[in-house]
Amino acid sequence: MRRSVIAGTGSYLPAKILTNHDLAKMVDTSDEWIVERSGIRQRHIAADGEKTSDLAIAAAHKALAAAGIKGADIDLIVVATATPDQTFPATAARVQAALARPGIPSFDVQAVCSGFVYGLATADNFIKAGQANTVLLIGAEVFSRILDWKDRATCVLFGDGAGAVVLKAADGKGTPADQGVLSTHLHSDGRHHDMLYVDGGPSTTQLAGHIRMKGKEVFRHAVVNLAATVEEALAANALPVSAIDWLVPHQANRRILDSTADKLGLDPSKVVITVDKHANTSAASIPLALDTAVGDGRIKRGDLLLLEAMGGGFTWGSALVRF
Ligand code: UT7
Repeated sequence: MRRSVIAGTGSYLPAKILTNHDLAKMVDTSDEWIVERSGIRQRHIAADGEKTSDLAIAAAHKALAAAGIKGADIDLIVVATATPDQTFPATAARVQAALARPGIPSFDVQAVCSGFVYGLATADNFIKAGQANTVLLIGAEVFSRILDWKDRATCVLFGDGAGAVVLKAADGKGTPADQGVLSTHLHSDGRHHDMLYVDGGPSTTQLAGHIRMKGKEVFRHAVVNLAATVEEALAANALPVSAIDWLVPHQANRRILDSTADKLGLDPSKVVITVDKHANTSAASIPLALDTAVGDGRIKRGDLLLLEAMGGGFTWGSALVRF
């Protein structure tokens, strides 16, 4: 059975850090409120002129180096983003021009905060179908450009960044002991589109717009949907919770992460948490968390990783991966 093995990870964060204390000088908020309600202490903000593709390319270079491959070895590029450089062409095409062979396919996936899990499922299916052997998958966002910096309910929650993985085809036995992506599960429910959305776009206002969110409602759905998709992933592989070495979740809110671990009965020390330093970087948050924990030695080869995310749409999903 063909498996998609994560051959290398990489990430990039813009240099500028915006702390909660900085934000308290801009809107009516406080470090105490933000930390208590979300667990966020700081976020990175892209420099003027620094684009999503710039972040994506910087993360990609590191993932290629970690995988020990060259750009010329890539045969598919997928970029998960809700903040592309332009409405079109896809940000993935910019990445292709910067570091890969002309002619290979490249496209963006748009599932907001679930984008990396959607991108991973897409890349895995290309590899399983034999249509790709080496895929560069990136989650990259510049959410600072679509924040309403006067809306304290949203502007304190998001940040900019990018994370990347190189996926390589490998032969497996078709058991959970295989290295690589073991399963992916994706969901959406568009009835809730007005709970988390951007109030602009090409076919409506012709402007990029700003994020609007009914935070409490999103929180309520996130806790339920994430617990369900995590259990779905374990059941599909006939694995117990105790088999998980690391939960690598989308980083929206520390309380959501704690609740998911609690509902699962998972030891909280097995949850990779970066929301305190990165805030919510949407599609970039899982690969950023993954690269952080690979880089500091927590995640090791052979570990079983459970990735999960929920975002606007609503969209949500999970992936079980043996690293
Ligand atoms: O990545 C996609 C998924 N997104 C999420 O998962 C986000 C989910 N939602 C959340 O994380 C939480 O709902 C928030 C962190 C957004 C908010 O936490 P909450 O405990 O649900 O607070 P709330 O929205 O109910 O607001 C409580 C109070 C309100 O005041 P009143 O009405 O009680 O007087 C808000 O006006 O806090 C006020 N508030 C603030 N106060 C200080 C809202 N934002 C702020 C702020 N600073 N930045």
